[in-house]
Amino acid sequence: ALRRAGNIHWQHLDVDKAARARIKGQQPRVLWFTGLSGSGKSTIANLVDKRLHALGYHTFILDGDNVRHGLNKDLGFTDEDRVENIRRVAEVAKLMSDAGLIVLVSFISPFRAERRMARELFAPGEFVEVFVDTPLAVAEKRDVKGLYAKARAGQLRNFTGIDSPYEEPEAAELSLDTVSDNAERLAQRVIDFLTQ
Ligand code: PPS
Repeated sequence: ALRRAGNIHWQHLDVDKAARARIKGQQPRVLWFTGLSGSGKSTIANLVDKRLHALGYHTFILDGDNVRHGLNKDLGFTDEDRVENIRRVAEVAKLMSDAGLIVLVSFISPFRAERRMARELFAPGEFVEVFVDTPLAVAEKRDVKGLYAKARAGQLRNFTGIDSPYEEPEAAELSLDTVSDNAERLAQRVIDFLTQ
């Protein structure tokens, strides 16, 4: 359980989010990529980031593997730790969007409740959930990092899709089928969604 400090009051700041975004000529957005380990989240988020950057947008990527090296290095993969992982990342994404950025978030984020919690931090239309839809069998067959093999061998506990759940999105703004389409085309679909 989180301990809450008392006597904390919200400090009003004169330069607001709209003013910060205006100076960048962009609308803050949060692109929330969710999907199994090895689904292709980071690959697609990277491509989207590269293209948005080339178009002159000010973006930033929050990626699970990287954030777990720093801010969240105290967290593991129990349900409780994943919930806290996502809570912190959602709050960081919120700060970055307050700074006027387009934020790409790439975490497994396996639980619907936490993704909903993240969404609720943002104004309508600002949060874009992107389901990187790769069937378990396909992600497991690719096994880029060899983690599925370890999980199957019992050397890695609480692995998503094996002995830890992944709750598929029911109403994601975008669903990317990585079996029938390649990463470049899927990245373009995200860009089209944003710029339409
Ligand atoms: S979560 O569920 O959102 O908190 O996970 P996330 O922060 O995105 O971290 C996922 C990456 O951590 C590696 N890894 C594991 N994933 C799932 N389950 C277990 N037990 C686990 N242990 C380590 C794995 O490389 C994930 O990277 P991706 O890029 O998703 O494959």
